Amino acid sequence: MQRLQGRVAVITGAGSGIGLATARRFAEEGAHVVCVDLDEPSGSSAAAEVGGLFVKADVTSESDVIRMYQTAFDTYGSVDIAFNNAGISPPDDDSILETGLDAWRRVQEVNLTSVYLCCKYAIPYMQRQGKGSIINTASFVAVMGSATSQISYTASKGGVLAMSRELGVQFAREGIRVNALCPGPVNTPLLRELFAKDPERAQRRLVHIPVGRFAEASEIAAAVAFLASDDASFITGSEFLVDGGISGAYVTPL
Ligand SMILES: NC(=O)c1ccc[n+]([C@@H]2O[C@H](COP(=O)([O-])OP(=O)(O)OC[C@H]3O[C@@H](n4cnc5c(N)ncnc54)[C@H](O)[C@@H]3O)[C@@H](O)[C@H]2O)c1
Repeated sequence: MQRLQGRVAVITGAGSGIGLATARRFAEEGAHVVCVDLDEPSGSSAAAEVGGLFVKADVTSESDVIRMYQTAFDTYGSVDIAFNNAGISPPDDDSILETGLDAWRRVQEVNLTSVYLCCKYAIPYMQRQGKGSIINTASFVAVMGSATSQISYTASKGGVLAMSRELGVQFAREGIRVNALCPGPVNTPLLRELFAKDPERAQRRLVHIPVGRFAEASEIAAAVAFLASDDASFITGSEFLVDGGISGAYVTPL
């Protein structure tokens, strides 16, 4: 499929995981991909692999965010797709009773303030073009409570969800679509390592997933490519769940 032929896509957190899988998928579908990451080796290797452009930027920095869209525009002539995906879930973000203010604030900055900045500075390009698609990465924990808490992470993703909905509504008549992507747990190297060490911890989570496994990053990327494309032309302001049925489940199959 070449649904994104000639479109310019800016992906934050493109060096790893969901961002990397999406950079690959966007490039396969014909987009010019701007790979943004704080980590230079992984970001530049992603850009090289997909024949795109690497921009080293910290998404919590206003000047970095302004610069990354300016660079995308100067290089390719438009900003058609913004996939605001960079995020963290550090171990010191835990139960509310354990989580300190520093950890709380760091996670809010990287996961929520960054999405505010990325939307704030992508939208004016899209207004001038009269079209654009923004996909903000939230999580299934934005719509469900977890007893294995990461309190600032969950609150940040709830913020991403509410902000995306509001922006989707506000800019709908200017041809700009804004959706929140809510992935379920994804099979990443970190997750594999964690669960290999502690099978009980893995089982506690797997039991809630009707499909019976974690997602592959490429499955999340496929949903992002759909939301970015004109196939999703009537989808905006949505909480787009790609969660293997977790949020719909009461009793799961044995
Ligand atoms: N992996 C999952 O199970 C899962 C589930 C639901 C939602 N999510 C969300 O999906 C997104 C991507 O997750 P992932 O698992 O692919 O993560 P990842 O850790 O594999 O990749 C995140 C990338 O973001 C970059 N990054 C971190 N802070 C940055 C900053 N300040 N500026 C620029 N880049 C920065 C990192 O260098 C890294 O390359 C995150 O928002 C995460 O919360 C992940």
